[in-house]
Amino acid sequence: MRSATESKATAGADGARRRGRWFAAIVALLAGAGMWVGVAAAAGDAGWRAPARLEQTGLYSDFATRELASDVLPFTPQYPLWTDGAAKRRWIALPPGGWIDASDPDAWVFPVGTRIWKQFAFDRPVETRYMELTAAGWVFATYRWSADGGDAELAPERGLRALLESRPGVPYDLPGRYDCLACHESNVTPVLGFSALQLSPDRDPLAPHAAPPEPGSIDLALLIERGLLRNHPASWRTAPPRIEAASPRARAALGYLHGNCSSCHNDRGALTSVGLSLEVRLATGHAPSALTTAVGRTAALRPGGAIRERIVPGDPDASLLAERLGSRSALLQMPPLGTHAVDSEAHALIRDWIAHDLSGGAPAPRAEALAGIPPTHQPRTSEKEKTR
Ligand code: HEC
Ligand code: HEC
Repeated sequence: MRSATESKATAGADGARRRGRWFAAIVALLAGAGMWVGVAAAAGDAGWRAPARLEQTGLYSDFATRELASDVLPFTPQYPLWTDGAAKRRWIALPPGGWIDASDPDAWVFPVGTRIWKQFAFDRPVETRYMELTAAGWVFATYRWSADGGDAELAPERGLRALLESRPGVPYDLPGRYDCLACHESNVTPVLGFSALQLSPDRDPLAPHAAPPEPGSIDLALLIERGLLRNHPASWRTAPPRIEAASPRARAALGYLHGNCSSCHNDRGALTSVGLSLEVRLATGHAPSALTTAVGRTAALRPGGAIRERIVPGDPDASLLAERLGSRSALLQMPPLGTHAVDSEAHALIRDWIAHDLSGGAPAPRAEALAGIPPTHQPRTSEKEKTR
């Protein structure tokens, strides 16, 4: 996927000019994708006013004792997002009589009136993020907790920079609304952690930073049992979804990439043109797409001009994906927002996976798993395999 303009840009000797063009290419890409630039058009919250205080969103029946409202259910995704080590709790409330439609097993459709909360804490609660499905679409807001924990008020729309330190010297920001949209509006569903894979009772024991479900948590089995999920594959009752992978470590690595990267890197959303999908789709006919779009694949974009492979089996040092996951430089860091500290546990996991689980070259995916994937997204035969 190399265009003539890109080749010209990288052939130039002037590094600064090259970097300038590199930035221009990203801006053009994002503008084309409707991401960050002009993203407001996609959002449902034009004209919506977020309640001024968390208390007014209906999370608690008694704010003073923090007793949850009776329609609020805790949930705990098995592959959580890394946010510089914040401890997280999450809750959902469906409207009375409301149920979720799983006709697309990878993009559930929620009833209007659904509300979801996610609390972030460093020793004490710091913010509670809030999503609500209104008739006009999903809306996003975050509430900042006072230092004494007595109240949580609506944070400014642009967010708050360096509100505190997540660890010595590392600032913690409250995201602005456009940050919410960058992650939550770049796939076909804005709900990222309340899904069949994330709520499967068949939980991955090696998933980085996974907290055990809190008491009273709702999971996939309970959703089905209570009739809150409909039109789902019948097999979910007896064989809850799990990532089929070559080893337990590969399962955890693919799960981490799904949980932390697939909101942007998928093949149905705003960044489809990058051609990198890290999503694990449950719909039949989808192999884990990291194996088909990252392993042995040349990167679409070239910061600094070098041609790079996204993942080189057996060689984490040469793999751009591991490098970007382990970087917090403005040009390279992945994810590009929402964190200032490298997730070193996950970085080590991804490096080990590349070094040990892919070392024979990209595993040959089963033929039926590749059905429906366009040939351009199927893995190339590696040099090793060709000469065998
Ligand atoms: C860096 C990407 C990113 C940013 C920025 C971000 N989120 Fe999320 N959010 C996620 C991911 C991934 C999940 C699911 C995994 C988890 O909960 O750990 C999630 C989960 C949530 C949830 C629970 C429902 C769900 O989708 O699973 C809420 C509510 C939420 N985010 C609200 C917000 C709001 C409001 C903002 C902005 C103020 C925001 N988020 C910013 C990535 C992001
Ligand atoms: C908020 C959206 C977002 C999230 C979340 C995100 N990325 Fe990215 N990623 C981008 C954008 C935009 C680009 C293209 C611009 C660039 O290369 O910086 C990109 C580019 C990349 C590339 C280079 C692709 C190529 O072919 O040139 C890699 C590798 C990558 N991301 C890995 C990751 C990994 C690993 C994660 C999760 C740990 C992640 N990204 C999370 C937005 C995101």
